[in-house]
Amino acid sequence: MLYVEILGNLPEMAQGEVRALLEMASPEFRIIERDYLFLALKGDKKAFPLLNRLGLAHEYGELLFSAKSLEELYSKAENVKWKNYIRGTFKVDRETMVNCSHLVENVEKKLGAIISKRGFKVNLSSPETLIRVYCGKKLWVGIRERFFKAKPFNERKADQRPFYKPIALPPRVARAMVNLARAKKEVLDPFMGTGGILIEAGLMGLKVYGVDLRRDMVEGAKRNLEHYGVKNYVLKQGDATKLRELFPDKTFEAVATDPPYGSSATLGGRKREELYKKALSSIYDVLDGYLSIAFPAQFNAEIVAEKIGFEVLEKYYQRVHSSLDRYFYVMRT
Ligand SMILES: C[S@@+](CC[C@H](N)C(=O)[O-])C[C@H]1O[C@@H](n2cnc3c(N)ncnc32)[C@H](O)[C@@H]1O
Repeated sequence: MLYVEILGNLPEMAQGEVRALLEMASPEFRIIERDYLFLALKGDKKAFPLLNRLGLAHEYGELLFSAKSLEELYSKAENVKWKNYIRGTFKVDRETMVNCSHLVENVEKKLGAIISKRGFKVNLSSPETLIRVYCGKKLWVGIRERFFKAKPFNERKADQRPFYKPIALPPRVARAMVNLARAKKEVLDPFMGTGGILIEAGLMGLKVYGVDLRRDMVEGAKRNLEHYGVKNYVLKQGDATKLRELFPDKTFEAVATDPPYGSSATLGGRKREELYKKALSSIYDVLDGYLSIAFPAQFNAEIVAEKIGFEVLEKYYQRVHSSLDRYFYVMRT
């Protein structure tokens, strides 16, 4: 069993991202239970390379057991074969979530004492093994495998890139969109802008394809990709509503994209709904797989996309600010 602690700002989408990655790792793997921001998963080490791609998560690890009370937690801890899980020194670290329903103040000390009795050494400053206790409705005990530091994401924020425009998605969200598109080898972003989605996909090791109407964006996206060390890319200046002309012989396995929301500059002078409709149909022509796409909430993407032939599978709402709310959709051809 595994666990993921998701971020709190887009929890439904974060859960969808985990589901997508598990699905790619194995048809057997799935989310078993959610306790606030804690997800218990059916899965094993085979999922680690995919979970390493997570955007909307704090950490993941191996889940040892859950308990409905502290008594049950301590009694189960007595029966764990700790030598199978602890490498070197250890520390017990607690996460008290807002729905925590247990008096967990001393759990680190008490669980730590049970484990040290077995001969393992505590190291509070730099433990080699971190044992995590999550308190929610239930209590959950796991071993942290990977913590996703904020710094690398912050270093890829729009204003940190060599080519900057204030149109870009936060890197964690861009990353989740690539994952929701179930991209395994490659991804296309037909409205790439400054390349935010492509940077994340490139850093996951995928081949990235990008299109933008504006030459400055194509040049800027290239600078940005190079800056973050992404080398495997194909960028084209062109129209997202004519993708078949741009890629006459190519069918993509995944598309992730964030079309322009409003200003005439980013819309290339077109009417918004007309552009969305034509872009969806053009994406459909070159895709055999999943599309993840963001649209302003006013646009009824489901009806339009289903008419074209897409199956709309998932939909996540986000209020960005007072004048922008949007949905992230996941669709399949
Ligand atoms: C919201 S931005 C994308 C932001 C991007 N995700 C990023 O991280 O920078 C939309 C982009 O679509 C481009 N665009 C507008 N109409 C287009 C069209 N018909 N074909 C291709 N690109 C278009 C705009 O120039 C703009 O760069």
